[in-house]
Amino acid sequence: MKKIGVLTTGGDAPGMNVAIRAVVRTALGMGLEVTGIEKGFLGLYDRLFLELNSRSVSGIINKGGTFLKTARFPEFRDKKVRTQAYENLKHVDIEGLAVIGGDGSAKGAYSFSVDFDFPVVLLPASIDNDLYGTDFTIGFDTAVNTAVNAVDKIRDTATSHERTFIIEVMGREKGNFAIEVAVACGAEIAVIPEVPMDWSKIAEILKQQSALGKTSSIIILAEGAGRADDLASFLQEKLPDRQIRYSVLGYIQRGGNPTYYTRVLATRFGSAAVHLLISNQYPFMVGVTGNNLTYTPLQKVVSTSKLPDLEHIDLIKKMAI
Ligand code: F6P
Repeated sequence: MKKIGVLTTGGDAPGMNVAIRAVVRTALGMGLEVTGIEKGFLGLYDRLFLELNSRSVSGIINKGGTFLKTARFPEFRDKKVRTQAYENLKHVDIEGLAVIGGDGSAKGAYSFSVDFDFPVVLLPASIDNDLYGTDFTIGFDTAVNTAVNAVDKIRDTATSHERTFIIEVMGREKGNFAIEVAVACGAEIAVIPEVPMDWSKIAEILKQQSALGKTSSIIILAEGAGRADDLASFLQEKLPDRQIRYSVLGYIQRGGNPTYYTRVLATRFGSAAVHLLISNQYPFMVGVTGNNLTYTPLQKVVSTSKLPDLEHIDLIKKMAI
């Protein structure tokens, strides 16, 4: 193998730049050439190729987002589109691909590798942390910290006004992100899609917590479990004496400088991915279990779902007395 490509695809996540840097510098150090592909799978199709050297990735270790840009490109599900992308890669002699992205990217990467027997390694990067085969994805730690900082600020005003706040966080249809935010910010209640909850039950719990002397509360709502404004209206009707407010944290959760943990993880993943490619092992996803690097067949990654740590629901209840 003489030349590899690297791309970031799907929703951006803090630490993607760190992962690109690690892929580029590991590959260059092993005598490979590296081509950056802008805008993910879209750029594979549109030939948005960019030769990278060590200086191309200087000064980005501390930057959120991805300098290679990213895009949602559902057209990549079409085999004809993937075939064109493959032809484009062949044309510029790229012989392996490091794909940095989340669960949608895993599917695209897997199909592409299988279709053309092409070496592909996935570096899991998503704030959602919903990929099977790794305890942590690139960006998750940073995004959880961003959300926790925001919730801490909301708690100040919630306490001062003796209000109940519903805070909607990202995670698409999964609660992996929400549950960690909820534990870390001492939420009174977490509502996630994996543990469906009758909203009347939430009103009951709030009443019980009031009886214990709580004058304000934080409810973390995973976006996949409902809308904050709907839940706020529902609770306001059930509990007219209370002041219910809501906040949707939104895209702030995807930005910002990567934390120490995200940077180290992305650097380890980038280095490991290049070693896999060069030893012709594909299609795999690099991951971390405990503190050890792991390699999971992409076929297993795309066919298995990762549940949030449901013991954390219990922890939240235990802490909310
Ligand atoms: O997958 C990451 C994520 O930020 C989800 O948490 C969120 O639901 C989604 O992306 C938003 O997607 P888009 O960037 O396409 O609006």
